[in-house]
Amino acid sequence: MVLESISRIIKVQLPAYLKKLPLPETIGGFARLTVSEWLRLLPLLGILALLGYLTIRPFLPKKKKQRDSLINLKIQKENPKVVNEIDIEDLNSANVCYCRCWRSKTFPVCDKSHLKHNELTGDNVGPLILKKKIL
Ligand code: FES
Repeated sequence: MVLESISRIIKVQLPAYLKKLPLPETIGGFARLTVSEWLRLLPLLGILALLGYLTIRPFLPKKKKQRDSLINLKIQKENPKVVNEIDIEDLNSANVCYCRCWRSKTFPVCDKSHLKHNELTGDNVGPLILKKKIL
């Protein structure tokens, strides 16, 4: 039943519709079409535009991930989540700085890369500083 309907549309109704369209013989003929003739062409032109778009869509450049919105640009990108655990008791020096800008080459320890990042971007990030109380 469905195939019969589709077959009828393709074999009978579509050719009849196309035959009635005011398609000009030349490109210049489009300039001489009336408004009502253009309106009759609109559905066909819309379908052709859609088919053209769907055809070239796989070849269009993909939207890039907004790299600017990423915080972590290169640290342990193979991991779904970067987690670092450090026992407070293991702190040896009086001050330890941990990176919060994700630009440190010694992550999770701050290497002052945030200074360059802040200069380039106008950001204001800085490290987390753990201070050991010296009694
Ligand atoms: S290097 Fe990242 S906070 Fe210092």
